[in-house]
Amino acid sequence: MRKRLIAGNWKLNKTKKETLEFTSTLCPELKKNSLTDEVEVMVIPSFTSIETAVNCKKESGSGLMVGAQDISQYASGAYTGEVNAEMLKELEIDAVLVGHSERREVFQENNDVIAAKLKTALDASIKTILCCGEPESVREAGTTDEFVAGQIESALAPIKEMTNLDQMLVIAYEPIWAIGTGKTCDAAEADRVINMIRSKVKEILGDVSEKIRILYGGSVKPENIEEIINKNDIDGALVGGASLKNDAFLQLITKSASNADSLVA
Ligand code: PGA
Repeated sequence: MRKRLIAGNWKLNKTKKETLEFTSTLCPELKKNSLTDEVEVMVIPSFTSIETAVNCKKESGSGLMVGAQDISQYASGAYTGEVNAEMLKELEIDAVLVGHSERREVFQENNDVIAAKLKTALDASIKTILCCGEPESVREAGTTDEFVAGQIESALAPIKEMTNLDQMLVIAYEPIWAIGTGKTCDAAEADRVINMIRSKVKEILGDVSEKIRILYGGSVKPENIEEIINKNDIDGALVGGASLKNDAFLQLITKSASNADSLVA
């Protein structure tokens, strides 16, 4: 059984003060219903707010996890603006995001850069959420599967000898045209692409593919989470906009808990 994961990618939002307000509301709620026994919960703030979120998680004993939004592929040196693996580990993060479409599109990170970042994170024993997904033009051209499989191949080829990938690697399928647009990918179609991704992962990494979680991301909200999460191959969600509000995020978590029926949302 793959444990579900709901991860909130806050992008360029929330100061330290706002992070504290959010996590100090969320953590007691998680603890009250032992929610993290049912579903893993992660927030992914900006670098400057990580320490605030980690402190809150530790003090609360709520099982909340805290991720970082990016990692440098470089170890040290003349790379202005970068944050390396050692610095992230010092902050006691639980995971890092690699290959988000905004990094790919706005910051021109290509498949090689993303492969290098993934390897750097895993070499440092940092759990990594690898994002993939096609732009609208690719979907319209009918070449989604080839495009996404190419992203997966390029990222996983350098790490195929690694062990523990069931623990260390999570994949998120995020069709770019569904991110922040309100246009969700049809749940059945998201499940189909995720199934295709799992087959590709199996080709590269072998049977561990059955244990690696693959999330869906793109306009996930409390109104559509149940349809998405109940698909066979979808193991959770990477959430942007709806993870910024305490109420909405908590609803996403509650509705994703395996004992959801017995909880009051
Ligand atoms: P969204 O963002 O939920 O606001 O569409 C998802 C993401 O970019 O991870």
